[in-house]
Amino acid sequence: MALQLKVNLRDQGYKIMIGSNILQNIGAELKALNLAGDAIVITHPILRKLYGKTLEKSLTVQGFGVTFFEVPEGEKSKSAKTYVGLLEKIAKHDVNKNIFVVALGGGVVGDLSGFVAATYRRGIPYIQVPTTLLAQIDSAIGGKTAIDLAVGKNLVGAFYQPKLVYSDVSVLSTLDKRQIRNGLAEAVKYGVISDRRLFDYIARNVSLLLNSDPKILTEIVYQCSRIKARVVEQDEKETKGIRTILNFGHTVGHAVEAAGKFKLYHHGESVALGMRVAAELSVRLKYLTAKEAAVLGGVLSDIGLPEKIKGMKLPAILAHMMHDKKFKSGKPRFVLATGLGTVKVVEGIPLSDIKSAIQSYL
Ligand SMILES: NC(=O)c1ccc[n+]([C@@H]2O[C@H](COP(=O)([O-])OP(=O)(O)OC[C@H]3O[C@@H](n4cnc5c(N)ncnc54)[C@H](O)[C@@H]3O)[C@@H](O)[C@H]2O)c1
Ligand SMILES: [Zn+2]
Repeated sequence: MALQLKVNLRDQGYKIMIGSNILQNIGAELKALNLAGDAIVITHPILRKLYGKTLEKSLTVQGFGVTFFEVPEGEKSKSAKTYVGLLEKIAKHDVNKNIFVVALGGGVVGDLSGFVAATYRRGIPYIQVPTTLLAQIDSAIGGKTAIDLAVGKNLVGAFYQPKLVYSDVSVLSTLDKRQIRNGLAEAVKYGVISDRRLFDYIARNVSLLLNSDPKILTEIVYQCSRIKARVVEQDEKETKGIRTILNFGHTVGHAVEAAGKFKLYHHGESVALGMRVAAELSVRLKYLTAKEAAVLGGVLSDIGLPEKIKGMKLPAILAHMMHDKKFKSGKPRFVLATGLGTVKVVEGIPLSDIKSAIQSYL
């Protein structure tokens, strides 16, 4: 049995389905969406090996054709080269056929496949089948699709919503622990920005989560997806500033990730460090108590997320932060915690406070 959420958008709403061992039922769901023809499954070789058969069987039983196109693992696949390569293959395959895209993978496959679907023939339907915790609670929801340029990440993309997000938490059992920790950093973020109960639930269940307990994971993925969906509904294209709260921990987090050349720290690890700094700043500016900041830090440590920013100096972090388009120059804007479960977007924070907050974690 899968849990269901709806993302209600003006043009097109869609369902998010969450459960354990539900991949084998996806064919029937796609049929119910009135999709027909050939599924173009974009994935990594390892994921095809692990889950390709289950997916293929479920689709063929319902009369769908299935074609797999594999891309290498890693951020490098979110490139113009891989993107165009996929389009060429799809175009060759697409002769008098109805086709739709299925993204079977983490955020890399999801962002890339979404952009392929958004642009091939000016848009064909696509389905997100996220296989990392980060993708299930974050990247698969909300319709942000993109590829990278040499100059920077996610510089080419589109808002293009999927027809369905299908999250089977049982696939997370093959994910390595570092990736689970990464996803949990974002889960903690959702707790801090809007749900104290979720925060406490994560805090109580850290060891079960690190062991990929399906029941606890289902609950976490459901609660986080609900929060992301509600935020996206209010601010689909990030024009109203509401989506900004999702960036809690990300201003410094992105800078740390970039200063480490995207190698030193994974995204979730950088966000964990960014959340520590944001909490410290919130305490300094009297929005948060020192005790609350310590509780947040304790949970991040229990998960095994980094406690100190290593391998880089303050000027490098600041330089990347000033580059961030979301960090308005002259008017530093930060998402600060006003409790564990509430945040506030604050503008005009003195740079000296930001520097000291970062410094305390170097
Ligand atoms: N669109 C958005 O809103 C949004 C939000 C956040 C992040 N992102 C993007 O997401 C990307 C990062 O995504 P990610 O953290 O999921 O990384 P990822 O997609 O690179 O996946 C991480 C690794 O895990 C492996 N993997 C995936 N699922 C597995 C499974 N079930 N079992 C075993 N191995 C598995 C992959 O092969 C890969 O090597 C970045 O490109 C980032 O820009 C997008
Ligand atoms: Zn993030």
